Amino acid sequence: MKDRLRRVAARVHRAGTAPSFATDDVVLGRNVQIGRNVRFASDRVRIGDGVQIRDNVVIEASDVEIGNYATIYHGCFFPGPGTLRIGHNFWLGAGSIVDSKGDTTIGDNVGIGAQSQVWGHMTFGDTLYGCRWDSAKPVIVDDDAWIVGHCLLGPVRVGARSVAMLGSVVTRDMQPDRTYAGSPAKDMTDKFGSQFEVRSIGERLLELSARLDRLLPDAPERSAVRCAIDATFPTLAEDPDLLVLNVESRTYASHEHPLEGRVLRGLLPQAKFTPARASSTA
Ligand SMILES: CC(C)(COP(=O)(O)OP(=O)(O)OC[C@H]1O[C@@H](n2cnc3c(N)ncnc32)[C@H](O)[C@@H]1OP(=O)(O)O)[C@@H](O)C(=O)NCCC(=O)NCCS
Repeated sequence: MKDRLRRVAARVHRAGTAPSFATDDVVLGRNVQIGRNVRFASDRVRIGDGVQIRDNVVIEASDVEIGNYATIYHGCFFPGPGTLRIGHNFWLGAGSIVDSKGDTTIGDNVGIGAQSQVWGHMTFGDTLYGCRWDSAKPVIVDDDAWIVGHCLLGPVRVGARSVAMLGSVVTRDMQPDRTYAGSPAKDMTDKFGSQFEVRSIGERLLELSARLDRLLPDAPERSAVRCAIDATFPTLAEDPDLLVLNVESRTYASHEHPLEGRVLRGLLPQAKFTPARASSTA
């Protein structure tokens, strides 16, 4: 086990001490960065490509999967045991807590801002003496949801593309495409509008191309990254020398292209792509 953990640790680009794993059932993707004093008390760990975990993060979920290009900032805590599934491009602000005692499932492209807390369980009071609260329920956060920051969530389902504004206390399910605020949080979509408006494929292509021009001023590098739509993606994706971004399906094909990390990270958080193929940690 020690040899295997040493090999795992050697793959991690890090600035400080090696991360601590309680198991040898650990699979890390490419170019994972883990900061100082990071501890996994898990039985099984899967971490995708390009994931960055900053200093002083503790993960106590027993079974944890984190998708590609997730960013977990300093001092976050994941109480367990339980199953924690996190999709691609996850963004968790500093000092946040994400519970998995009742199992927690987070989709792709989800952001949770600094100092937020997501709780599935309510346990502390003396049940021998008669405390009535002792529960652990699932938390589900669907794709592209955004918990803006300093929010508190109970065991709810957060609908796709919904938003909880700063300081919300979310005690009820959030419906897809709705915007919530306050304590307890109320639907305030009539005041704020929804997170997304319709953007045509043509507009997305033009905007992505402009962002890539800024990100890759060097012409040979820029020509290795191509924008696609569903109709052009399959053919372009076959070329092993290209990194291809499909603005329609919001997916990428990379063949482990050397520019992959720089481009996908460089576009975050304002443009998100998930792998068209199964991730290397599957
Ligand atoms: C407390 C808890 C067990 C209650 O579950 P429940 O009995 O199913 O009750 P509900 O969640 O349906 O809430 C009942 C009502 O109280 C309100 N409510 C719940 N928590 C609230 C809070 N913190 N502040 C204000 N209102 C709250 C709900 O909005 C709901 O109001 P409504 O009936 O007007 O819609 C559950 O909400 C929970 O687990 N919360 C998180 C626990 C936590 O913080 N744990 C930290 C680690 S111990």
